[in-house]
Amino acid sequence: MISRNPNLIQLSSSYLFPEINRRKQEFLLTHPQASLISLGIGDTTEPIPESIVEGLILASVQLGTRKGYTGYGPEQGMAELRKKIASTIYFNSVQPEEVFVSDGAKCDIGRLQMLFGSQVSIAVQDPAYPVYIEGSLIQGVKKIVFMPCRPENQFFPDLSHLQHTDLIYFCSPNNPTGAAATKKQLEQLVAFAKANRSIIIYDSAYATYIQDPQIPKSIYQIEGAKEVAIEISSFSKMAGFTGVRLGWTVIPEELRYEDGSAVRADWNRITTTLFNGASTISQWGGCAILEEKGMQEIAQLASYYLENAQLLRETFQRLGYEVYGGENAPYLWVRFKGQKSWDLFQHFLENYHIVTTPGSGFGQEGEGFLRFTAFGLRQNIHTILNRLS
Ligand code: MLT
Repeated sequence: MISRNPNLIQLSSSYLFPEINRRKQEFLLTHPQASLISLGIGDTTEPIPESIVEGLILASVQLGTRKGYTGYGPEQGMAELRKKIASTIYFNSVQPEEVFVSDGAKCDIGRLQMLFGSQVSIAVQDPAYPVYIEGSLIQGVKKIVFMPCRPENQFFPDLSHLQHTDLIYFCSPNNPTGAAATKKQLEQLVAFAKANRSIIIYDSAYATYIQDPQIPKSIYQIEGAKEVAIEISSFSKMAGFTGVRLGWTVIPEELRYEDGSAVRADWNRITTTLFNGASTISQWGGCAILEEKGMQEIAQLASYYLENAQLLRETFQRLGYEVYGGENAPYLWVRFKGQKSWDLFQHFLENYHIVTTPGSGFGQEGEGFLRFTAFGLRQNIHTILNRLS
């Protein structure tokens, strides 16, 4: 028998969300009548808007015709969709050839980690989306530097004390804190990466929730970012595509290794070797999202979830808690001073029948916080507000 991959031994036995689910199921065994409401995993709850569904249906119907049938598409994604992402999301500040369509940001993070291998050092925000660290550990990455992001530093790391790393993971609007970095902060980040010859892996999966026009929706709004940043993003939280699966990664041509060769060429190699392209049905759905009607529909979706966030935010504030996020992001980050996140999780589960996400599941700096997602049916949000009040 072969030995277990030593990189996997370092991981906890279960990923955060399956562990939450396990505790939820355990509670239901003893309280089968409990009507649990989940504000745990950030999974969308509103139906996919009409014009986007039409795009999905049309693509499916065409696949059933001799003329419309297509098999494998280009691994990098359909030309139409790459072009639409470049023009509608990036206003042509990136080229379609720099956009690689994927089956979601999480999957692309894993492939990016494979691209950079085990020898790189990485910096991550603390708290952070667990995949940045756990995926790196799976690759065998040894050096991980944590960048504390607390209310006290406006959730932006102190770059003057940050040691050099090869990669810097940065998520804005942030999962889990809901903080959205300002233009000035992102300028500092890009300048830091340039000075240290680091590559930023910028996760903009929640960019569609940004309401403040002063806050950048993409790292490429920062001058010079194309030389130092990769951007990963997703249609999941934008259009209710968590189950449909569709995302993208931008690797600019300007992004180079130390020897001057293009990172993009290697990404193309990895993509064509390990990925057969996103589902064509999803990709036609993606094209429908990026039409004028689709963009209007997703703006309404974001408003709906942000109204949920506002209702929750007001309630927690009224109850005297410190609440962050929820204004440019679908997450609320609530501080319960002096308490442990998993105890709080149990407390909310047992007393209010609400499933949350414990802040410590996102890192040491998350201890004492709970994350509440704003994804949810309005009627459930009202029930939760009643239970809490
Ligand atoms: C979360 O709740 O943090 C996200 O939904 C997880 C994900 O996007 O993979």
